[in-house]
Amino acid sequence: MRKAYIAGNWKMNMCPSEAKAYAQDLLKAVKESGADVKMMVAPPFVSIPAVLDVLKDSPIIVAAQNMADHDSGAYTGEVSPLFLLDLGVKTVILGHSERRQYYGETSASINKKILLALKHGMEVIYCVGETLEQRESGKLEEVLTEQLQNGLKDVKAEDMDKIVIAYEPVWAIGTGKTATPEDADDAHLFIRKTIESLYSKDIAEKLIIQYGGSVKANNVKALMAKENIDGALVGGASLKVNDFLPILTYNK
Ligand code: PGA
Repeated sequence: MRKAYIAGNWKMNMCPSEAKAYAQDLLKAVKESGADVKMMVAPPFVSIPAVLDVLKDSPIIVAAQNMADHDSGAYTGEVSPLFLLDLGVKTVILGHSERRQYYGETSASINKKILLALKHGMEVIYCVGETLEQRESGKLEEVLTEQLQNGLKDVKAEDMDKIVIAYEPVWAIGTGKTATPEDADDAHLFIRKTIESLYSKDIAEKLIIQYGGSVKANNVKALMAKENIDGALVGGASLKVNDFLPILTYNK
């Protein structure tokens, strides 16, 4: 049985003071709601300490949205995984489509980060997904295969329990367009089968696959009802407690 995993990706929103106030409100709301899913929020780097002050010993995991592909050195503007670990952050989102689209990340460059995060025992949410053009030209499976094969290259079977895959069709992110639960489930099944062929049936069956792309309170239940959808990576709807709480409690 895979435990539902709902994560909030704040992207470049919420400065430290806003983030702290949000975390206090979220924690209170979550406690009162009796939410029963694995929960995570990923603030911008500079807001992480403020959020950790509030959420450190809570059931809500605090994650990073990205990290460097080296531990230290002359990499101006980068944030080492060791700095995250020093704060107490043990989960990182890697390969988000915005990183691929705007910052030139590729499955190969993301792979370096994934291997480094795993070396330090961190949990990785690895994002994959196709553009509209790729979907419409029938390349969905080819794109996912490339992202999984190259992104997870040299990841050992024993580290696969630290990997979560987030399937985020690029055309559904922040657009209000959601994949239908059926289309999303088909893509998730394809991801699970690919992991089975790269690793094993057991690893594929335990793999948590989140869906991301305009997840909201009004569509989360139908998505989560699908057999291969084990969670959600939520952007816009994670920025207000009133929007995020119903997603965290979709099964209540
Ligand atoms: P969205 O973003 O929920 O705003 O579409 C999802 C994501 O990019 O992780």
